[in-house]
Amino acid sequence: MDQIEEIRSKIDLVQLISESVVLTKAGRNFKGLCPFHSEKTPSFMVSPERQIWHCFGCQKGGDAFGFLMEMERIEFGEALRILAKKAGVKLESYRPSKNESEKEKLYEVNHLASEFFHYLLVSHNIGKKALSYILQRGITKGSLEKFKIGYSPPMWEGLQKYLVGKKGYDVLDLEKAGLVIKGQKRDSFYDRFRDRVMFPLFDHRGNVTGFSGRLLDANAKEAKYVNTPETAIYHKSELLYPLQITKEEIKKENTAVVVEGELDAISCFQVGIKNVVAIKGSALTEAQARLLKRFCENLVLSLDSDSAGDMASRRGIEIADKAGFNLKVVTLEKYKDPDEAAQKEPDYLKEQINNAENIYDFFISSAFKRYRGKTAEEKRKIGQELIPILAKIEDEIIKDIYIKRLSEKLEVNEESIILQTKKVFSKAPVTPKQSQPVIQKTRREILEEYLIALAFQGKEAKRLLSEKTRSLINLPVYVKLIEKLEEFFKENKRFSSQFFFNFLPVELRDAYDKLYLVDFGARIEDKQWLEKELEESEKQLETLKIREEIKKLTDQIKSEKSEEEEKKTREKMLLLTRKLATLGKTI
Ligand code: CTP
Ligand code: MN
Repeated sequence: MDQIEEIRSKIDLVQLISESVVLTKAGRNFKGLCPFHSEKTPSFMVSPERQIWHCFGCQKGGDAFGFLMEMERIEFGEALRILAKKAGVKLESYRPSKNESEKEKLYEVNHLASEFFHYLLVSHNIGKKALSYILQRGITKGSLEKFKIGYSPPMWEGLQKYLVGKKGYDVLDLEKAGLVIKGQKRDSFYDRFRDRVMFPLFDHRGNVTGFSGRLLDANAKEAKYVNTPETAIYHKSELLYPLQITKEEIKKENTAVVVEGELDAISCFQVGIKNVVAIKGSALTEAQARLLKRFCENLVLSLDSDSAGDMASRRGIEIADKAGFNLKVVTLEKYKDPDEAAQKEPDYLKEQINNAENIYDFFISSAFKRYRGKTAEEKRKIGQELIPILAKIEDEIIKDIYIKRLSEKLEVNEESIILQTKKVFSKAPVTPKQSQPVIQKTRREILEEYLIALAFQGKEAKRLLSEKTRSLINLPVYVKLIEKLEEFFKENKRFSSQFFFNFLPVELRDAYDKLYLVDFGARIEDKQWLEKELEESEKQLETLKIREEIKKLTDQIKSEKSEEEEKKTREKMLLLTRKLATLGKTI
């Protein structure tokens, strides 16, 4: 057995997938909401027997390696290493792909840079001013360690001297990591981060993907924050700070408190709000929502007091709503952001978080605060602001509740609001739903698949070799599968799904695996049900077969030349019709 096989056999796929998807048992299989496309009814199936997964919605599927690669957006080699570790298998030799070793190198460079910055902040004279700044902002020594906060020195080549000069890295690697910028002169580079408090940006697995650097001097003219640009490993739209530390707490609470900045997150964490993440000053993105969805179902938005109502965060709210989160909003009237509230009055902040308002109540009360809603004109303005928001609520019941609430507050007819929401959509450009190619199966395909899946999952594979059953199967792929099954039983006494899988030629393996994903629910364990269902589907196939034959004969009659022949054909047809009638009675 090669190492990949060994790892695959040692990993429990259901357990692995359960770390990121809620799976419920469905007979011999498990099912859940697909993590790779948005859906409301589960079409994501996992077969423990075959150790495979497949989504009938987006058609993605594979084994443990494939799942991890897709989920974590990593390459095969990385998935291999992660799973080898989980399975306790020591990898003998593995040559990473170029792309992969490139990423590894960038993580390494960033990791060393974070250590360099951290050292300068906490242990070097040069970091004194930055240290006193960050401590004066109420960040504890413990937090400096926990979040690996650092300081980039006020030099053009400070980091380069260390990483290139001392550690021997190529300056081009630093450029790829976004740590240096190409200068005017040929082959000259200068450090991107200078004289700033440095926040390493980790992904949720703990790799340093980039940095955010804050100015010390409040009066400086430069940008308050400088961030790593998009690189092979840093994608702003995917980052949630500091998820690598807070993900467990978020899972435990089933809730994430979403703030804007790094310092908001750290200050919240320090006062015990440990299920916090920062979105770095922009609206929540789809990638962030998808990532968070793996850890919780509830979001409490605790944004800066000026931005909760603005358009950008509204876009984020729509995204979160679509992703299926329960959304609440915290308003911090007394303070400008959660950082300030946490530093000055943590109890107030916690209370506001506990009493967070439902997002739609928040929108309604915020609009009424701004426009009063007394005159007809004010009412129109409120409607204009709120109706497009309410119209987009995914859940019809929730939508109904808020339309009622708004009509009561505006003292207008509910129908007129409903009418307005419809107008919103008739004006909006029709965005085609992300349509998954729907694979239309013929009735024969459905029936054959059902029967054969029943037999395999119900551990009645041998039945497929009976003459009667075989005569009903027509599709080439299943005909071949049954031929192989016959061969298999000649060599083996007992059936094992794994041995049979290994026995199959590669081109049949996929079709075979899919049979294990058909969802029969718990009934598949019930022998009586199974027997009845097998018989029933055989009958249906028989009916189909006769119908197909009748159809053939009908076509034949049209081209028949002699009366004699036509008569014969008609007789044949009559026989078939009778057979069909008796079958119909027993169904
Ligand atoms: N931000 C950024 N680039 C900027 C400004 C802001 O990336 N030029 C991001 C940072 O992650 C920042 C967040 O947006 O933390 C929120 O910005 P802001 O509210 O301006 O900063 P604060 O978090 O309040 O930072 P501070 O308290 O240090 O002023
Ligand atoms: Mn702030």
